[in-house]
Amino acid sequence: MKDTADLRAVVTGANSGVGRSAAELLAAAGASVVMVCRSEQRGRAALEEVSKQSPDPRVRLEVADLSSLGSLRELASRLAGLGSVDVLVNNAGVYRARREMTEDGFEMTMGVNHLGHFALTHLLMEQLTEAGGRVISVSSDGHRSGDLKRAPLDDILTGRIPFKGLQAYADSKLANVLFAFELSRRMGRAGLTAAALHPGVLATRIWNQNLNPLSLMMRVFKPFMKRPSTGGKAVCRLAFGSEAADVDGRYFHVEEESKAVDQAYDQELAEKLWNESARLTGMTVMAA
Ligand SMILES: NC(=O)c1ccc[n+]([C@@H]2O[C@H](COP(=O)([O-])OP(=O)(O)OC[C@H]3O[C@@H](n4cnc5c(N)ncnc54)[C@H](OP(=O)(O)O)[C@@H]3O)[C@@H](O)[C@H]2O)c1
Repeated sequence: MKDTADLRAVVTGANSGVGRSAAELLAAAGASVVMVCRSEQRGRAALEEVSKQSPDPRVRLEVADLSSLGSLRELASRLAGLGSVDVLVNNAGVYRARREMTEDGFEMTMGVNHLGHFALTHLLMEQLTEAGGRVISVSSDGHRSGDLKRAPLDDILTGRIPFKGLQAYADSKLANVLFAFELSRRMGRAGLTAAALHPGVLATRIWNQNLNPLSLMMRVFKPFMKRPSTGGKAVCRLAFGSEAADVDGRYFHVEEESKAVDQAYDQELAEKLWNESARLTGMTVMAA
């Protein structure tokens, strides 16, 4: 892998929590960093803070919404002139206690956490393979409660089933692991490396998104949780701190390799998820 000073990284959800920490650490290591944020205002504030942490920051903000395929296509066309992309950190994430839908007709949790990142990765695929790049998917140990076989897959992806917020979150995080493993299988020969991780149970704004009992309880425990930098460091270790062969097609619990739930290793399911995600997002499927 190149020297970190020569790396170009794209980080989603870079204004807060794990993404913000990863952007900061990547910039401090000299990488050129694109911070993808959905709010211009929050993005600008984070860009300013991240820039302050590095003596010679090469950081820029791109405003884009992972819940909108149109917004992601616009982002990709702006990034096309950038050249190769060495690291893509698929980090942005939501947990919704109530059903919401994206403008493209997907359930919001799956739409942002999985389908948005599936689309963005495909839109940047040429730039990633050009660099022999790495795609890091920020999943969660919550993926262990995911079950993508309990109903027809397209019903789960589009939310045409009774909604339970935690189940939808767990399903989306299982989809992150399945996607990382399938990406490694399909694109490994093209030189791409893919890995997924649980960043830790961290004091971030993800617990502020709802007023349901779980979120309220987690807010009480926030002072006892680890800082977002625990997750940021774990992301950076996968992005540039280890040999590609040591991380490719693997799942990590923070910095330790860990076995994911059994469904994550189901190649038939991974292929089905890939094809269904490609159909729903209109992305071209790459051969297995
Ligand atoms: N915190 C934990 O304990 C924990 C545990 C396991 C896994 N994770 C995973 O870690 C990742 C990062 O979460 P976090 O804990 O750092 O939470 P966070 O502080 O809430 O950060 C989430 C980021 O995602 C962005 N985002 C949300 N919806 C978006 C959209 N539609 N388009 C673009 N960006 C969007 C948010 O932007 P806004 O600021 O505009 O909302 C924010 O920057 C998530 O994938 C989460 O599932 C977290």
